[in-house]
Amino acid sequence: MIRLEGITKSFAGKDGSVAALDGIDLTVAKGEIFGIIGSSGAGKSTLVRLINLLERPTSGEVFVGGARVTDAKGERLRELRRSIGMVFQHFNLLSARTVASNVAYPLELTGQYGKIEIAERVAALLARVGLTEHAHKYPRQLSGGQKQRVGIARALACEPQVLLCDEATSALDPQTTGSVLDLLRQINRELGVTIVLITHEMDVIRRTCDRVAVLDRGRVVEEGPVTDVFLHPRHPATLRLVREAEPDGGSLDAIAVSDLGGRTVRLTFTGPTAHKPMLGRIARENLIDYSILGGRIGHIRETPYAQFVVSLSGRDVAGAIAGLRASGVDVELQGGALAESLPVVPPRLQERPLHVV
Ligand SMILES: Nc1ncnc2c1ncn2[C@@H]1O[C@H](COP(=O)(O)OP(=O)(O)OP(=O)(O)O)[C@@H](O)[C@H]1O
Ligand SMILES: [Mg+2]
Repeated sequence: MIRLEGITKSFAGKDGSVAALDGIDLTVAKGEIFGIIGSSGAGKSTLVRLINLLERPTSGEVFVGGARVTDAKGERLRELRRSIGMVFQHFNLLSARTVASNVAYPLELTGQYGKIEIAERVAALLARVGLTEHAHKYPRQLSGGQKQRVGIARALACEPQVLLCDEATSALDPQTTGSVLDLLRQINRELGVTIVLITHEMDVIRRTCDRVAVLDRGRVVEEGPVTDVFLHPRHPATLRLVREAEPDGGSLDAIAVSDLGGRTVRLTFTGPTAHKPMLGRIARENLIDYSILGGRIGHIRETPYAQFVVSLSGRDVAGAIAGLRASGVDVELQGGALAESLPVVPPRLQERPLHVV
């Protein structure tokens, strides 16, 4: 649906040019919810603005719906923009227009619809976002969540194939964030709209997206299904974002090696394995003990997961690891490649504080 090839984008700054994006290759498939996450200044907004050509790349190519659009102009550009709706962090509603009139605005701009058709479409859009009763109110009379629903209805007015959401929930409280994310998922499911969702909050990604790309200083440093990236973060930028989403500051990924004399492993149970009582059984069968050093449980979209860092000791640790793997548990030996060969704790890692729950 969307393909970015070799994109760079520089801005002229006071001290020469600033590279906001530095060699981006990214593909978003039709019908998916694709998340782009990164800290402030990583280049997220610049990236999303390239998709609807609010920004032009310094080099590289942009493809939408299979067509190269990098230098689209005139009617072609207007058509492209109509096929891509955009939702903003601060809603960008017109304060002098009512809710209904804000949603009607993009339809009026096309000059293609009569008054009756616009009214019908607006009514359907407001029903979809649950604002029928608020049609005649002004933006100042709405809560943040309601304003964002107006923003979403307006973005959907021209029946776009793609919805770009730039920090659409960042100004909202957690409960309102949840309901706006539910609405976006419903739109994706029922209308088949491809959604590109930008955020600095990993939690938003975890609840909503199919795949995610992590942006750091203008580069994609990690990309994949949300389950992979969230449960097995590799890049320091991803680790940082995952930790911020953890209730206790994400000590789990900071645990490297146990000093308890056992073999430290990270166990990840996803889907059906998340609820099976297999750890105790496997421990008994292999005559081992385990102590839990850290853990987290939750959902990634509808998929339950449980992840624990445990220290295994006793008779047949290798047998227990093999048994866990055979039961569908992802087992990672902690301490990197060293853990595979060295029974002793590498000194550098020993100095790290150990978080025990
Ligand atoms: N119009 C512009 N002129 C000059 N520099 C810009 C412009 N737009 C963005 N930049 C710079 O490009 C880099 C990336 O900015 P961008 O707004 O894309 O980041 P972001 O990831 O969206 O950050 P945030 O989370 O704060 O919104 C920053 O260094 C920013 O200062
Ligand atoms: Mg931004």
